[in-house]
Amino acid sequence: MLASEIRTGLDAAIWPATARAEPDGDVSIGGVRIAALAARYGTPLQILDEEDVRGRCRAFRDAFGDAEIAYAGKAFLCRGMASLIAEEGLSLDVCSDGELAVARAVRFPPGRVLMHGNAKTPDDLRAALGYGVGRVVADSFSEIARLAAAPDGARTRMLIRVAPGVDGGTHAALTTGTDGQKFGFPLSTGAAAEAVRRVLGQHDAGGRGRRGPELAGLHCHLGSQITALDAFEEAARRMVALLAAVRDEHGVVLPELDLGGGFGVAYRPGEAEVDPRELGERVRRAVREACALHRLPVPRLVLEPGRAIAAHAGVTAYRVVSVKRAAAGGVLVAVDGGMSDNPRPGLYGAAYTVRLAGRRGTGGDRAATVVGRHCEAGDVLVRDARLPADVRPGDLLAVPCTGAYHHSMASNYNLVRRPPVVAVRDGRARTLVRRETAEDLLARDVG
Ligand SMILES: Cc1ncc(COP(=O)(O)O)c(C=O)c1O
Repeated sequence: MLASEIRTGLDAAIWPATARAEPDGDVSIGGVRIAALAARYGTPLQILDEEDVRGRCRAFRDAFGDAEIAYAGKAFLCRGMASLIAEEGLSLDVCSDGELAVARAVRFPPGRVLMHGNAKTPDDLRAALGYGVGRVVADSFSEIARLAAAPDGARTRMLIRVAPGVDGGTHAALTTGTDGQKFGFPLSTGAAAEAVRRVLGQHDAGGRGRRGPELAGLHCHLGSQITALDAFEEAARRMVALLAAVRDEHGVVLPELDLGGGFGVAYRPGEAEVDPRELGERVRRAVREACALHRLPVPRLVLEPGRAIAAHAGVTAYRVVSVKRAAAGGVLVAVDGGMSDNPRPGLYGAAYTVRLAGRRGTGGDRAATVVGRHCEAGDVLVRDARLPADVRPGDLLAVPCTGAYHHSMASNYNLVRRPPVVAVRDGRARTLVRRETAEDLLARDVG
């Protein structure tokens, strides 16, 4: 057992920073017990450890010195989270006018917002230019043309998204840096160099000065849940080589290099996780060395962690609804949530750990599968779980590492109402997002 585990009774690599196992079997987070939170807010309930989020923001800022750290809002975004991110001095990556509306609602500094998306709609671009976002990350030739023609286009700055051809070894659905997927301009085909040519070509077209955004630099993002640091180093080297090629062809030294996010986290004990400090050392060294090789000044780095900031801060509490003996042995424990609050097991076979909360179990542990309430046999939340033999309806279960790509990917399948998100800190809880109501569901159903 690790020292931190002895201190908290929980595996610190999985649970949020302030989580503690209480002597009676409950778990507290931010000084508030899960049983108390469940009694007050109901279940399912998504709990967010504010200290954990803040600590991870600081860890990234410390690890990367003067680099810009932009939190990827797709992992989890609401006004409370956006404010917290702003307070910690991070920038914000958004990928729709909806995410931008949240940033706008808290007056997130526009210069620190980056707009992403492989198929930004006219509404997305209008909202981005209207708010004056710091950078738009261009993802297609048609978008470059659209930005050049936009009335406010010349007032913004642009990064060009490059697919550097580096495979981070993650799930295929999460791989975005290779050829043959939908994001960015491939490096291998010359499309990335051509994108730069088009943008810079617009700048002095017919001697009429710059049309469209200023080209601030290049961007790449290899994918998500990647733990192989050598993939990030290789991407950095290829991107610096492209910066050098731009300098050689156009005589322009682009000042920014955005290496995206994708830093993997441990969902279960013993799994690998990216350490921000090691990542910072290795990526910055790779960039420095590549720049020295190409005689380029070191660009200003931008990193976009999403999961690595939000995942560990989240714990989802469910109430057990029924327990059945499984034909294959063990038990099927059905809870009051499922694929509508966590689609990841169904989408990528994502695996979690789970524990009983609210009381101490008796009779030793036995094999269990935690299933949801939805009308699909694939609605399984935790396979290969171990739960106390006396687990029964009414019990509380807690699933850690559910802060990223949970609330943001939630649906209303079976017209189940989405759970609230409650932030905890210093013994207090506050609602960030309230539970959905039947009225909310009916509000859009106007027929
Ligand atoms: C452009 C971009 N940046 C950053 C991220 C964040 O990735 P992660 O949450 O894995 O760090 C994503 C997510 O896929 C992304 O598409």
